[in-house]
Amino acid sequence: MTFEETLVQVRELLEREGRVAYRVLKRCFTLDDEYIEDLKADLIDAKRIAVDEDGRVLVWTGQTGPVAAVPLHARGPSTVLSVAPSQPSANSMPKHLAERIRAEQAAREARGATDGERKIITALFADIKGSMALMEDLDPEEARRLIDPALQLMMDAVHRYEGYVAQSTGDGIFAFFGAPLAHEDHPQRALYAALRMQEEIGTYADTLRLAGRAPVEIRVGVNTGEVVLRSIRKDDLHTEYTPIGHSTGLAARMEGLAKAGSIVVSEHTHKLTAGYFTFKALGAAQVKGVSEPLNIYEVLGVGPLRTRLQVATRRGLVRFVGRQSELAQMKKALEQATAGHGQIVGVMGEPGVGKSRLFYEFKVLSQTGCLVLETFSVSHGKAYPYLPLIDLLKHYFQLTLQDDERKRREKITGKVLTLDRSLEDTLPYLFFLLGLTEPTSSLPQMDPQIRKRRTLEAIKRLLVRESLNQPLILLFEDLHWLDAETQAFLTLLSESVASACIVLLVNYRPEYRHEWGNKTFYTQLRLDPLEPEDAQELLTALLGDDPAPD
Ligand SMILES: Nc1ncnc2c1ncn2[C@@H]1O[C@H](COP(=O)(O)OP(=O)(O)OP(=O)(O)O)[C@@H](O)[C@H]1O
Ligand SMILES: [Mg+2]
Repeated sequence: MTFEETLVQVRELLEREGRVAYRVLKRCFTLDDEYIEDLKADLIDAKRIAVDEDGRVLVWTGQTGPVAAVPLHARGPSTVLSVAPSQPSANSMPKHLAERIRAEQAAREARGATDGERKIITALFADIKGSMALMEDLDPEEARRLIDPALQLMMDAVHRYEGYVAQSTGDGIFAFFGAPLAHEDHPQRALYAALRMQEEIGTYADTLRLAGRAPVEIRVGVNTGEVVLRSIRKDDLHTEYTPIGHSTGLAARMEGLAKAGSIVVSEHTHKLTAGYFTFKALGAAQVKGVSEPLNIYEVLGVGPLRTRLQVATRRGLVRFVGRQSELAQMKKALEQATAGHGQIVGVMGEPGVGKSRLFYEFKVLSQTGCLVLETFSVSHGKAYPYLPLIDLLKHYFQLTLQDDERKRREKITGKVLTLDRSLEDTLPYLFFLLGLTEPTSSLPQMDPQIRKRRTLEAIKRLLVRESLNQPLILLFEDLHWLDAETQAFLTLLSESVASACIVLLVNYRPEYRHEWGNKTFYTQLRLDPLEPEDAQELLTALLGDDPAPD
């Protein structure tokens, strides 16, 4: 950081905190005595916005105005700022992520993409509450020993959802989602990361409390808005960007409005994520630098909806049109499966073309007399091995959030043994996958590869056996996001499908590759955009058929 950049950050910190000890400044910005003297000369003597207290503390005396209070990284459109982590070593981006960012950058360059791309991103600010007081009371090294692990947990949460830590100050981070790696669900990712941060910090605070220390709490603010991405430096992946309007500044404001331990989002982010998460409306808040009050929301947790179609269904679906030949082929596959000749149907199509809607309609038409089990991969799903299978099994065993461990185990045991006593040996693997391991279980010590193979085998045997009682419709959506473990399961299952009463319906976008192409029991359906007559019918369903007034 140049002297000027340090100066701006110190000023911002001072304005926010009111009082900052020199020891803290030295620690946060790695400054020596001479540097501190230079800062004092500028802030106290030249700018007259601070005074010295006992040679120990710098006290803010300047005016707090909307512009001055906007953090460094959130200034208006005219400033281009280099957003470099102030502690690159602490940034510790996982290698796979760094490689993907480099690859994305190389692809952009190959496309001839110029700098200055406008992008909608979701910005997240998180900081440790009361860290300055903590640092003032403790020996700086000891304070860092408490704060650094918390910062690391915050950064890990960002990386888990493939966000980018643009800056880490001594007691907080600024991150964004949606760039440099593009993700269509960046608002959801930011909120998953925020929830994870709060959860992990909660656990960390418990350990501090047990050790007799003051617990650490964080507050998180999120907003979705537009930025111009300038460039990404190849060597250290520092990203330059310019916020447009209030885009990132508002995220910082949301953080400022959050109570310790909570997550606050702007109205825009709320609108994009409603249904995927649950919220509490906090009403309208006056936000510095914005004339109209803004509605703000606190994030309470993960919501009931997982896919775009579920969100659309809640708003009300338009009448289904077309796709009759696809439905007929799926129906035929089900008839064959019912007769004991299991089938796989793969529906491929671009985003939004109607894959999920087709499955939804098929389900409504076909569920009588069959057992339907459905599951989805989610965009960040590769980070969660087995997630679609866990969801599928929870649904099959009808486990609910209200069930305690004992109840869950009872439900699973009851269902498996009623189905077929010879499946008893699958129970430990099902328990393990569903997080219900008994203390005496040997599974945690088992070779992970063997455990994995047996777990997948157990689920396969269960489903194949179930299909002898009633035909099974298995729906797996969005395979392009599938994790390796669930993929291995589908490969294993496909070996037994042909002789079971199972129709396995999968859908995916064109980039997904599989090896079912030459199997006799596989049908590939390519969904193209609707035919013109159907598209017209859809439009009429959407807009009504009144002739437009001239
Ligand atoms: N045949 C149709 N008739 C009426 N509405 C449709 C039809 N196909 C799709 N839609 C509507 O279009 C929207 C997008 O469709 P859908 O979610 O099924 O796309 P998708 O192919 O699953 O996309 P993604 O790859 O993003 O999951 C939905 O609101 C859906 O109801
Ligand atoms: Mg879909």
